[in-house]
Amino acid sequence: MTEQAMTNRAEAGWAVPLSDLVIADDDLRAVTDTYRSGWLSMGPRTQEFEGLFARFVGTRHAVAVTNGTAALHLMCLAAGLTAGDEVIVPSLTFVATANAVRYTGATPVFADIAGLARPWLSAAGCEQLITSRTKAVLYVAYGGHPGEIGALRDLCARRGLILLEDAAHAAGSWWHGRHLGTFGAAGAFSMFANKNLAAGEGGVVVTADPVIADRVRLLRSHGMTTLTWDRHRGHAQTYDVVALGYNYRIDEPRAALAACRLRRLAAENQRRARLDARYRAALGGLDIVIPGRPADDGCARSHHLFTVVLPADADRDAFRGHLSDQGIQTSVHYPPVHRSTVHAAPPEAARRELPLTDRYAARTVTLPMFAHMRDDQQEQVVAAAGKALALARTSSRRRDSGDETPAR
Ligand SMILES: Cc1ncc(COP(=O)(O)O)c(C=O)c1O
Repeated sequence: MTEQAMTNRAEAGWAVPLSDLVIADDDLRAVTDTYRSGWLSMGPRTQEFEGLFARFVGTRHAVAVTNGTAALHLMCLAAGLTAGDEVIVPSLTFVATANAVRYTGATPVFADIAGLARPWLSAAGCEQLITSRTKAVLYVAYGGHPGEIGALRDLCARRGLILLEDAAHAAGSWWHGRHLGTFGAAGAFSMFANKNLAAGEGGVVVTADPVIADRVRLLRSHGMTTLTWDRHRGHAQTYDVVALGYNYRIDEPRAALAACRLRRLAAENQRRARLDARYRAALGGLDIVIPGRPADDGCARSHHLFTVVLPADADRDAFRGHLSDQGIQTSVHYPPVHRSTVHAAPPEAARRELPLTDRYAARTVTLPMFAHMRDDQQEQVVAAAGKALALARTSSRRRDSGDETPAR
């Protein structure tokens, strides 16, 4: 580990951070080679990465962009979402999912999750929300779980809806041999710093549909008919602007980094799978819910998040506080989007009773998960979680009886 990396880790001060990244020498070489090449914005390395990513997920087109939110935005635009449309989305997601729908003028309609142990969009719940305005379902592969993707694909086919996938968590997740993000018209991935395929910032739209792919390519660079790279190579002299596009281009160093890291993704996800299994075995005796289960179809998963649901009588702040005191970082995925100020206002407010989402969001805790987590670090988390749960229950009993919550 370099001195700078050690400094960053020491500054953060966690014995076990929520997620962590190791940049290998190969990664550094790929990036420095790119800087030395003298071409820094979208060009040959982006094209190479796109080819690798399309092959990895098993689809025809992959279009790399500046971040996952831009990927979602362009996917929604290319699918034809527009003002007046309704799009069914989960509320238990990062806010970007719903924002991307809003950017197009369409309205996100929030649907509930399937259950506390199944914190993903419920196909039956979605069906109840379909109206004459519903144009699409935007599914989120929460934590990398495939959830009800099969049922949603069938529902969309039966009701004539477009299926779109927010696959930000799902790099390396398959369901019955098919990669998540490729079940619907298009899928959007994120390469944000804490994702399984991390490049710092970055996103990818994948699709088998050449019309969607062309539209995303056009809109990512101002709707221009040629790119600077094309002109640099003498392939074009000028350009027209044929659509109101954006600057959502990715730069070459990040494309090179992503291409290099993609080669290690499957092996890293296997390490996560082992950690996931160890967590399940070690925490199985506690009175908590552990969402998801080992793959029943023999297919690999990304294991992006490891979440647990505390019992109703536990004080989550006390639980997290105890882990924090032990140097263990936790998080909450997610504060429900339908409760956020920006999405709680009409017209989305009309149908927003999501009891399971509210219960899950109030009781869930995300524990540390990253490919190179050491066994002793994980054992530290497990031991602290058992103690934290006992403390969290005592502290909530005290709170309920009017006693003060003990200091952390
Ligand atoms: C579910 C989900 N959707 C979308 C995004 C947005 O991706 P980005 O941060 O790359 O814009 C993220 C991650 O940050 C996410 O977790």
